[in-house]
Amino acid sequence: MPSIEGNQFDERDFRRGAWHQTATMVALLTTRAGERQNVMACEWAMIVTLNPLRFVVSVGPHHATHALIEESGEFGLSFCTDRQARLAHIAGSYSLNDTDKWALGKFPTYAAKTIAAQMIADCTLNAECKVISTQPLGDHTVFTGEAQWARYDPALQPLLYSAGKYWSMGAQLPKE
Ligand SMILES: Cc1cc2nc3c(=O)[nH]c(=O)nc-3n(C[C@H](O)[C@H](O)[C@H](O)COP(=O)(O)O)c2cc1C
Repeated sequence: MPSIEGNQFDERDFRRGAWHQTATMVALLTTRAGERQNVMACEWAMIVTLNPLRFVVSVGPHHATHALIEESGEFGLSFCTDRQARLAHIAGSYSLNDTDKWALGKFPTYAAKTIAAQMIADCTLNAECKVISTQPLGDHTVFTGEAQWARYDPALQPLLYSAGKYWSMGAQLPKE
């Protein structure tokens, strides 16, 4: 199939085609404000600086998560392993606005040390973050969070997301 190019960004298929060519990790983005607590799947979550350790997340303004981050000024990131595709699917397919995702998915949780939101257990990397910048950007808002506490398990493998499907990492490749 020949490559596709152009500037037809107003066409949904063109935008989706470009997006489907990317591969990302999936984080479970947890939030809490008062009694409301939530978990949402977030593929647009990544480290942007190592020292200090900072993450960005890009969140649609209509997601319940968005309001909870704005209200609390913090969020938890729990990067999924390749055994957590089902949890990612549930967290990314339902909204706190109409569904109790916690009951649906039986998410394994543990109490964070520095933020109110719960963290998801058995993940490759967890980071408890305080928001240091909020940037509305087109159809999403980019929140930058500075890690207050982090934990990771080098034995676990990340879950990948590409073309709307879940994948595990393939074989390691030689550098030369
Ligand atoms: C694998 C996966 C990754 C997703 N990544 C993002 C993302 O990076 N940013 C975003 O705004 N929504 C993303 N979504 C969509 C939200 O997770 C979804 O709309 C969710 O229902 C919002 O939940 P909430 O309203 O309870 O916050 C993703 C969905 C899936 C399945």
